[in-house]
Amino acid sequence: MLLYIGFRVPRPMVGRGAAAAGACHRTDMEVIIQPTQEAAADLVARIIAHDLRANPHLVLGLATGSTMERVYGGLVRMHRQENLDFSLCTTFNLDEYVGLAPEDANSYRFYMNRHLFDGVNIDKRNTHLPCGVAPDLDAECRDYEALIKRSGGIDFQLLGIGRAGHIGFNEPLSALQSRTRVKALTPTTIEQNAPFFGGPEKMPRRAMTMGVGTIIEARRCVLLATGGAKAQVLAQAVEGPITSMISATALQLHPRCTVVVDEAAAAGLQEREYYRWIFENEPEWEEYRGKR
Ligand code: GLP
Repeated sequence: MLLYIGFRVPRPMVGRGAAAAGACHRTDMEVIIQPTQEAAADLVARIIAHDLRANPHLVLGLATGSTMERVYGGLVRMHRQENLDFSLCTTFNLDEYVGLAPEDANSYRFYMNRHLFDGVNIDKRNTHLPCGVAPDLDAECRDYEALIKRSGGIDFQLLGIGRAGHIGFNEPLSALQSRTRVKALTPTTIEQNAPFFGGPEKMPRRAMTMGVGTIIEARRCVLLATGGAKAQVLAQAVEGPITSMISATALQLHPRCTVVVDEAAAAGLQEREYYRWIFENEPEWEEYRGKR
């Protein structure tokens, strides 16, 4: 019998949650369609809570953006009402804007404190984002990768999708094996996020982001997309050819990726009925069906 000392589980353990539940190992992307954006976000929060309860030392990869606010709201609620415990959890965020200090209200560190970390019992020393004002950005990116590795790798990576099809800030032509690095933002991304800064001219032009290669090394990926504005790019990401032009397509290479969408974001998917059948019939999803 193998005995693992400590709580980190060596790779490869992709799909171990499904195995523990008695289901077969999944190796394909799955798509779950929920009626509303609230239901979709709530489902993602419950998937995270499930994995955190199963492994209190979970290394959780986190995302930002307006889509995630409901997910974090759900986690804070579960912490308060159901004692969901974050005290042993470690987090790594996908990205941070270059030039923004942690106390800047538009920084992703500020966002995370506000939407999640201040509302749960996480030890902030275990919450990590690249530092946007690091004196040596390349060294900061290398150190971030090293820290992820020292933490045993990411167990669960939460993802949104940008309008240009990016995960993290992996804009078009991001190598599918890329690591954490500085990336220039596209006009589409600047247009999407400029309202938070009070105009495009006030927005940073570059960000540090985990690479596509970093992201798909996570043992589990869950992507949440809601709203009709994401329908077209989501369909390309899930059902289109793999391309560095749309970094989310790299998730098709991942052995355990779940895509959760609302009806509006699912509108462009060709195989909607097939995905619905799987969610309604696979034992793994039983505890998530018919709940809000
Ligand atoms: C930013 C983040 C992405 C996120 C995207 C979507 O670009 N870097 O990680 O997925 O925003 O944001 P929203 O949820 O606001 O559409």
